[in-house]
Amino acid sequence: MKLFDVYPLFDITPVKAKGCYVWDAEGKKYLDLYGGHAVISIGHSHPHYVEKIKNQLSDIGFYSNSIQNPLQHELAEKLGRLSGCPDYQLFLCNSGAEANENAIKLASFVTGRKKFISFSKGFHGRTSAAVALTDNPKIVAPVNQTSNAVILPFNDLEATENVLKNEYVAAVIVEGIQGIGGINLPGNEFLKGLEVLTKKYGSLLIIDEIQSGYGRSGNFFAFQYAGINPDIITMAKGMGNGFPVGGILIQSDIQPWHGMLGTTFGGNHLACAASIAVLDVIEKEKLVENAFQVGKYITEKLSEFSSDYEVRGLGLMIGIELKFPVKELRHKLLFEHQIFTGFSGQNIVRLLPPLTLSFEQADEFIAAFKQVFSDLSKNIN
Ligand SMILES: Cc1ncc(COP(=O)(O)O)c(C=O)c1O
Repeated sequence: MKLFDVYPLFDITPVKAKGCYVWDAEGKKYLDLYGGHAVISIGHSHPHYVEKIKNQLSDIGFYSNSIQNPLQHELAEKLGRLSGCPDYQLFLCNSGAEANENAIKLASFVTGRKKFISFSKGFHGRTSAAVALTDNPKIVAPVNQTSNAVILPFNDLEATENVLKNEYVAAVIVEGIQGIGGINLPGNEFLKGLEVLTKKYGSLLIIDEIQSGYGRSGNFFAFQYAGINPDIITMAKGMGNGFPVGGILIQSDIQPWHGMLGTTFGGNHLACAASIAVLDVIEKEKLVENAFQVGKYITEKLSEFSSDYEVRGLGLMIGIELKFPVKELRHKLLFEHQIFTGFSGQNIVRLLPPLTLSFEQADEFIAAFKQVFSDLSKNIN
């Protein structure tokens, strides 16, 4: 049987990973500044994480959501405490798109409304409602097209109020930091404005922290820089460090009823063990603080080096926008310096490393980037 060929692939086969490094089948070692697409939060194969999952698997790996599972309560308690959101309620699922799909459904149930607002360059996943609110017509199939999705200019409060005023909107959804759209920050005033406006017009505010959450921005959630309290927060990627886990945090005034949301796999024993291990390590190794410090260091060092590109982002969610396509630069970083990076669009290098990245590893990347950038700039000029 052939695989359904939807991914462009590098000809590299990782077979082992530890911390911020990955080894291929030939034993070549790579520095991982991509974190498997922002997923690796506590570093690859962290011993505490491996032990927790192994032990859990030998006790009980899975049952269903029809029995008592104390691990879900332990996870909720720990997450509430570490995230600074102890009064929210937790619903567990399996992926980012599923988290947003549930958040959208919940907002519609709560308000009795159908319309949603999202923003230009936003990405919220590939399932039905999430993709309708994603600003990329190429991935919206005819069945997903709906007039219930209104996509407005990013950071535009006036446009948002115009729609909120004239239509019955269930919720506004916005990323804590736009990832796939190019590491674009919503201004603090924009987020504060959204909080005020959604309240004023009886809508809910959903912050999509699937990529920017779990310490990546140097705060547990990126929206916390704006000091707001969203109605719903969606999470996934870093939550399970590679184990597929997603979740939504729901304000305490939103009342559940049995059957309102549900999933077979979400919140299973193994997923909880993985997620608890991630939080244990984030706390013990002070990884949110590390993401803040090391991210600031990379951003400052790269900004000092040249004004021929723009460095954006917070913590270890960094975009470097060049004046030329980044394909060759990323290729050279990968095949000449053994460094994985990501990208957003043609001209932006995206860095999403494990939150354990050290200053020395940051220096390794900075030196390689400077060299490759200088070589390519010479050829272009
Ligand atoms: C901001 C954001 N929302 C939602 C998603 C969808 O997550 P998943 O691929 O786990 O469905 C992503 C994935 O990249 C994302 O970056």
